[in-house]
Amino acid sequence: MSTLIIENPCQLQGTVNISCAKNAILPVIAASLLTEDKCTLEEVAALEDVKVMVEVVNSLGAEVNLNKDNTLEIAASNIVNHDTAYELIRKMRASFLIMGPMLARVGKIRISLPGGCAIGSRPIDLHLKGFSAMGANITLGHGYIEAQADKLKGESIYLDFPSVGATENIMMAACLAEGMTIIENAAEEPEIVDLANFLSKMGAKIKGAGTDTIRIEGVQRLKGTTHVAIPDRIEAGTFMMAAAATRGDVLVDGVVPEHVKPITAKLKEMGVEVFEYEKSIRVKATERLKSVDIKTMPYPGFPTDMQSPIMSAVCVAKGTSVITETVFENRFMHINELKLMGAKIKVDGRSAIIEGVERLSGAKVKATDLRAGAALIISGLCAEGRTEISEVYHIDRGYINIEEKMRKLGANIIRRE
Ligand code: EPZ
Repeated sequence: MSTLIIENPCQLQGTVNISCAKNAILPVIAASLLTEDKCTLEEVAALEDVKVMVEVVNSLGAEVNLNKDNTLEIAASNIVNHDTAYELIRKMRASFLIMGPMLARVGKIRISLPGGCAIGSRPIDLHLKGFSAMGANITLGHGYIEAQADKLKGESIYLDFPSVGATENIMMAACLAEGMTIIENAAEEPEIVDLANFLSKMGAKIKGAGTDTIRIEGVQRLKGTTHVAIPDRIEAGTFMMAAAATRGDVLVDGVVPEHVKPITAKLKEMGVEVFEYEKSIRVKATERLKSVDIKTMPYPGFPTDMQSPIMSAVCVAKGTSVITETVFENRFMHINELKLMGAKIKVDGRSAIIEGVERLSGAKVKATDLRAGAALIISGLCAEGRTEISEVYHIDRGYINIEEKMRKLGANIIRRE
């Protein structure tokens, strides 16, 4: 198991290029199951989660090639299996996104319950509510879900919570259903819009993606297409936060400024200079950060995936900050690790009260989930002495070559295998 080692504080300087979004690529891979034609995704970072999703669609019978030029080709001409491997599905929750495409394309699927993870119980009731409304017969037992549908029918579906995954799964299923499906209280994340763009290029009829009401008119079949996913707004936000926390001056290149607006707004409140260009953002911090209050919300609110990275930044800000996590019920696992580094944090229910300190001190810490791991890199870059981050595999799920990208910005960081 590899470890990241960071020596001494630094001020990040230079340019970092952002990769395509993990949370856009994963649903698009699942959506490729909706056609027997070949789909090609370009500029796909070989993230661990992408490799798992490739394994999942391959196990169903799709031919998949992740090529050296970072193109990913998927041809699901013959889906020969509808019974997914238990261990494979439990490895990564996003693999559950194959349920909608499989019900629409094949009419049946047997899939393990995705199970919870470090950040919460991660239920899938809203996904199942949508599929049942569209006519699927669903049974649960022995840790598996079995679902069958001769032909899904369009329906109006209200999501009790604007779930990203449920919106994506239902939208994909609705593309080949009979008639109109309306998803109300839908998630509005940029990844939803990107998936809708991919599906529309395949011939789907979708209106309203990016708003709280999405209308999908079912069609007979979909065709193959080529796609480049949107830039990863959370990777971009992570580097923006690292630049701010280390009082650096970094150009984050290859981003959609609109997608990181909530992060830009908060950085400006913290006294950071942020310059927006067409496809890049410059973050320049000369003074110690000011404290700030954060409440995570569905898009366009402040993203829950940026909660731990901004917490690392406010650990060394001037004053007291309050961070409230409203999306997941257990997304404070990084707090104990930050406290090992001298952070002053108290938890009160779903809120954390952080009293800023001048400097953190390096320590041996462990990544507890993907974004918590990223947060520990930021705190390590602000800490005196040596920080060792173990269980780095969490970070590799969603960040490609993060230590190389940080080193290019002047960080003293190495990976020890
Ligand atoms: C997606 O997860 C992202 N993952 C997560 O990113 C992200 O944190 C999350 O959206 C919120 O933005 C991918 O896109 C692969 P949700 P998802 O369904 O779809 C409740 C990362 O670090 N809920 O919007 O699983 C749920 O319990 C990951 O890249 C139900 O109650 O998130 C949670 O409280 C972490 N019933 C809330 O909704 C359901 O059926 C948000 O979950 C589904 C969800």
